[in-house]
Amino acid sequence: MTRIAVLTGGGDAPGLNAVIRAVTRAGILTHGWEVWGVRDGYDGFLKPGGVFRLHLEDVEHILGQGGTILGTANRGNPFARKVVRNGKEVIEDVSDEVVARIRALGFDAVIVAGGDGTLGVARDLAHKGVPIVGVPKTIDNDVWGTDATFGFDTAVSCAAHALDRLHTTAEAHHRVMVVELMGREAGFLTLYGGLSGGADIILIPEIPFRYEVLCETIQARVRCGHKSSIVAVAEGAKPEGGHEIIARPGDAIAVPRLGGIGQVVGKYLEEECGAETRVTVLGHLQRGGSPSAFDRWLATTLAGEAVRLVAAGAFGRVAVLRNMQVTSIPLDEVAAHVRRVDPECDAIRTARETGICFGDRLPPAPCPQKA
Ligand code: F6P
Repeated sequence: MTRIAVLTGGGDAPGLNAVIRAVTRAGILTHGWEVWGVRDGYDGFLKPGGVFRLHLEDVEHILGQGGTILGTANRGNPFARKVVRNGKEVIEDVSDEVVARIRALGFDAVIVAGGDGTLGVARDLAHKGVPIVGVPKTIDNDVWGTDATFGFDTAVSCAAHALDRLHTTAEAHHRVMVVELMGREAGFLTLYGGLSGGADIILIPEIPFRYEVLCETIQARVRCGHKSSIVAVAEGAKPEGGHEIIARPGDAIAVPRLGGIGQVVGKYLEEECGAETRVTVLGHLQRGGSPSAFDRWLATTLAGEAVRLVAAGAFGRVAVLRNMQVTSIPLDEVAAHVRRVDPECDAIRTARETGICFGDRLPPAPCPQKA
């Protein structure tokens, strides 16, 4: 009898429960394995009661649920964990303890659903001999080697629907609406959300912007009779020669938290450009809620591949989507790269051709052509 563990790590993303469900069902129904859940990411291996048996009935009706029934942690890196020693908080590498616990608990394999941070830890545990397989998730879509991560499609829909709502109120009041979207250093969510929601200006980390271009674009729109403008700005966007805005600095166990560029852009447009402006920060609304049908499918399909990898003993790999087919690539490869928007990609070319401004140069004149 094979005994496998499944865990979810890093920020949650819609579709995690679909992974847990698919792993549990395929593990039990097709392979006759014991499937165990690990609570709160890698931390669960170290906590009393941190692992528990998953049965088919535990995963009934969770396919469409957001979040994760296992819990997650984005400060749960066992190679740099905050622990209390002699009454003092210190950062320690407790990875050997995790490896020992995985062995002591009798797990023959671990399936990990996570983003770049969680998959990086999986790679390092694989190097220590842990039989581990990854499933890529994140609303940021920034995991290298896969065409898409689950969670992204749901977050893009959330962004697009938010922009739809902002259009109507912006138009009514003749305002500029700035909306700040998540994504860390990657602009996928803002690019796809902005395109799907009809943004007039899209600012992403991969294309540094100039404030004067934003102002000129908005003023040109007003001259052409447009009553409102929508600016979609990624939390990691930055001006040419400038830096991203850090809401909270990182430390030994956490990456810096980005946020605030929406307010900065909004203040500039109102105070320097004379445009009545309001700012909306979508924040964690983008991560919550029920996964889209695409994300349920993607999460389930990737999880199916992960289970097949375990069954074949092909450890140290990540299930990925390539040209709408699932396959797998080494964890080493995924963890060694980052994925960012290519400023020359089709989506950006089309956006520019349809008059969207990326803040680096003026778009074609936005005046309506009447016959
Ligand atoms: O990586 C996913 C993500 O939602 C980013 O887009 C965002 O910057 C970050 O997580 C927010 O993390 P937290 O949950 O710590 O606020």
